[in-house]
Amino acid sequence: CGIVAYLGYRQACPIILKGLHRLEYRGYDSAGVALMNDGELNVYKKKGKVAELENFIAEKDTHARVGMGHTRWATHGEPNDTNAHPHYSTSERIAIIHNGIIENYAALKTHLQQQGHEFHSDTDTEVFVNLIEEIQQHNHCNLEEAVRLALHEVVGAYAIVVMSRDAPNQLIAARKGSPMVIGIGDGEFFIASDATPIIEYTNEVVYVNDYEIAIIRDGRLELRSKEDVEQTPYIQKLELELDSIEKGGYEHFMLKEIFEQPRSIMDSMRGRLEMNAGHLNMGGFRAYEQKFVNAQRIIVVACGTSWHAGLVAEYLLEDLARIPVEVEYASEFRYRNPVITERDIVIAISQSGETADTLAAIELAKSKGATIFGICNVVGSSIARATDAGAYTHAGPEIGVASTKAFTAQVTVLTLLAMLMGQKRGTLTDTKLRELMVELDTIPAKVEKALLLDDEIRAIAATFCDVPNFLYLGRGYNFPVALEGALKLKEISYIHAEGYPAAEMKHGPIALIDENMPVVVIATRDSSYEKVVSNIQEVKARKGRIIAVVTEGDDVIRDMAEFVIEVPYTSEALVPLVSVIPLQLLSYHIAVMRGCNVDQPRNLAKSVTVE
Ligand code: G6P
Repeated sequence: CGIVAYLGYRQACPIILKGLHRLEYRGYDSAGVALMNDGELNVYKKKGKVAELENFIAEKDTHARVGMGHTRWATHGEPNDTNAHPHYSTSERIAIIHNGIIENYAALKTHLQQQGHEFHSDTDTEVFVNLIEEIQQHNHCNLEEAVRLALHEVVGAYAIVVMSRDAPNQLIAARKGSPMVIGIGDGEFFIASDATPIIEYTNEVVYVNDYEIAIIRDGRLELRSKEDVEQTPYIQKLELELDSIEKGGYEHFMLKEIFEQPRSIMDSMRGRLEMNAGHLNMGGFRAYEQKFVNAQRIIVVACGTSWHAGLVAEYLLEDLARIPVEVEYASEFRYRNPVITERDIVIAISQSGETADTLAAIELAKSKGATIFGICNVVGSSIARATDAGAYTHAGPEIGVASTKAFTAQVTVLTLLAMLMGQKRGTLTDTKLRELMVELDTIPAKVEKALLLDDEIRAIAATFCDVPNFLYLGRGYNFPVALEGALKLKEISYIHAEGYPAAEMKHGPIALIDENMPVVVIATRDSSYEKVVSNIQEVKARKGRIIAVVTEGDDVIRDMAEFVIEVPYTSEALVPLVSVIPLQLLSYHIAVMRGCNVDQPRNLAKSVTVE
C-alpha cells in the first residue's frame, strides 16, 4: 500500500491522484484522499482502483493546496469503502493515513471507547487517529505534541500522515518500520512511501528515519525525535529517472520481486520476531497453541512452489518441534482416502489463497475434524477464510507468475512457526532458540548480499541458455531448494529441468549425465556437506557440467566445479532462504536470454482456481 501527501502552492488533488497511480505497482484494494479546503477537511474514499476514486470525486469540489492520499492493502478488516483510508477521528477534526500494523490496537480501542470515541471501521488505523484526538483533548496540546505522545503508546509498524482542521496549513508525518520519503520543492512539499510520486517535481528528498516526526508548516520542514529533540534533515539528491519507475524500475515484475526479498522476508517477520523483547509472536499460533502442543502429526497440503515451501517445513518441524510431518500435493491428498484424525493439524500453504485443489483438501480435512492452519499471502482470500487460524506472509502482491518472494516469505513464516512449536513443545532449548532468532534476524541482509551475485549469475546463464536439459541436486534442507530451482527454470524458460535428492541421483538420473548436462548442485556447508561433495564427484566422473552453490570461502568445491556461486553462511535450518536466491536469478536470466515472456509464461496462471 502507499501514501502520498502534498502541501504547497499548486492544486493538491491532481498531484495526489497521480502519485497514487505511481504507487499502484505496490498493490492495493482501495484508495482515498483527504483535502483541506477553506477550513473544511473532506475525506473521499472508495474500494477498488484509483480510477474508481477518480470517478467518485469527479463531481466534488476538490480545490485544496494541502491534502493526502492512500492506497490500502487490507490487513485488519476486509477491503471496503469504510475500511479505506483516510480515517477521521470521532470529531472529524483530524484525519490520518497509515501504512503498517498497530499490534496493540485492541487494548487501545477498548480504552478509547470507554472515553467516548466512536469507531466505524475494523481498522487499527482508526484507533491511531482517535488516540491522537484523545491525547489532544486530554492534554490541551497542539497536534504535533499529540502525535508525538501517541507514538509512545502504539506498538507496531507505521508510516502516517496526519491533518487537522485546527491547523489547516500543516502536515505531520511519522514513521517506524514502514518507508517514508519527503520531497522538498520550491515552496512545496511532498510525502510518499517511495520516491516514485515525487521525482517529477523535485529531486531533493529527505528519507525519514524510524522514530522521527516530520512537521511541514510555514514553508519549512522540521524533523523531531520522539523525545522532541530537533533533528537536522539530511537532504539527498535522487538519481532516479522518471521513465525508469515502471515496475519499480525493473525490466520484469519477476526481477523486481526477486530483489524485493530482503524486504518481504523482513515484512513476514515484522512483529513476530521480537529481538528486543527476546520472544516470538504469532497471533494465529497463539489462538491454537494447545492444539499445536498436543498435535500428533502435521500434514502440509499445497501445490507448486508452495508445496516446495511445505517440504522445507517438513525438515524444520521435524528438526525443531520433533513432530511427524507429511507433505502432500493437495490434488493427490483430496482424492485418496487419507487417514486424518482430530489430533492432526493440516497446514495449507498458498500464495494466492485461491488454489482450488488446496481449498478442496482443506474442506476434506475439516470434515474429518482436523485443525486447519493457513499460510496465505492474499488477505481475505478463500483459503484464508476457510482455515481455523493462520498467518499471512506479508510479501506484498506477487505479480510474476513464477513465485519468488512468496516462497521465501512462506519459508520465513514456517520457520517462525517451527521455532514457536519447538519452544512450546519443549523440544527446542532456550539457547538454540535464541541462536536461531539471532540468525533469522540476519537473513534479510544475507539475501541482500546474495542478490549482489546477479551479474555473475547472468554470465553463467549466458553459457547455458541454449541447453535442452538441466539437473538440480541437493540434500537435506537443500533438497526442496533443488526442486524449486528446477521448477523455476522449466516454468519460465521451457528448458526441461529436474530436481532430485543428490544421493538418489545414482538410481536413475545419473544415466542422463554426459558432457552436455548442466548439473546445479546446492552444496552449502551443513551436516550433509561431505556427502554432497561425493555426489559432485560422481557427476564430475561422468563429465557433467557442475554449477555449485556453495558457502562463501569454500575452496574445496571450486576445484571440482565449472562454476561456483558463493552465498553467505547461515544456520542449516535457514539455508533455503539464501540458497534459493541464485537459482531464481539463474532461471530469470536464462529465460530472458531465450526471449521468453518471463512474467506470463505460456500455459501458466498465477492463481489456479480450477482443479
Ligand atoms: C500456480 C502458480 C505457481 C504457484 C501454484 C500454487 O501454478 O503458477 O507459481 O506456486 O499455482 O499457487 P498458490 O497460490 O496456492 O501458492
